[in-house]
Amino acid sequence: MGMPLPWALSLLLVLLPQTWGSEPPSMRLKARPGNSGSSVLTCAAFSFYPPELKFRFLRNGLASGSGNCSTGPNGDGSFHAWSLLEVKRGDEHHYQCQVEHEGLAQPLTVDLDSSARSSVPVVGIVLGLLLVVVAIAGGVLLWGRMRSGLPAPWLSLSGDDSGDLLPGGNLPPEAEPQGANAFPATS
Ligand SMILES: *[C@@H]1O[C@H](CO)[C@@H](O)[C@H](O)[C@H]1NC(C)=O
Repeated sequence: MGMPLPWALSLLLVLLPQTWGSEPPSMRLKARPGNSGSSVLTCAAFSFYPPELKFRFLRNGLASGSGNCSTGPNGDGSFHAWSLLEVKRGDEHHYQCQVEHEGLAQPLTVDLDSSARSSVPVVGIVLGLLLVVVAIAGGVLLWGRMRSGLPAPWLSLSGDDSGDLLPGGNLPPEAEPQGANAFPATS
């Protein structure tokens, strides 16, 4: 029962590009330091078919050559390609890379990967994990507190011990607002 699906999937992945004409590339433009005050831009195109693809570098929107291009097979019927262009160091952010491919209705243009943009997901992931840890810790603390017979902390604020200090503390218990937060007190 487990066998046919992976088989069918891999067969599909191998055959899709050939059977369905074209698959457009996804792209990235990166920069790395080159020799003597230069930077090397690498424009990469992933997973496309057919293998014919045209690179163009743009500097401030103007054509700036195609760079040194190479293409290779991915082994699943699709192709990848990259093009290298040497530019002045510090000038990288003026460049964009553009590709033309049969699978694209119009040329696809990408900007240089910015460190700010690539660090956002990392920050988001770290913050998300932190939030999960805090939530779990809070839940465990609360669970332990309620197991040992103490009310939830948000309930103890309006409870007997501190209620007298609050302006509304003299109200009978029935008059207190009954929100969703009051639910644990009844259990
Ligand atoms: C591109 O090719 C030329 C000629 O082979 C070479 O001199 C140049 O360094 C290459 N540029 C890059 C960025 O690799």
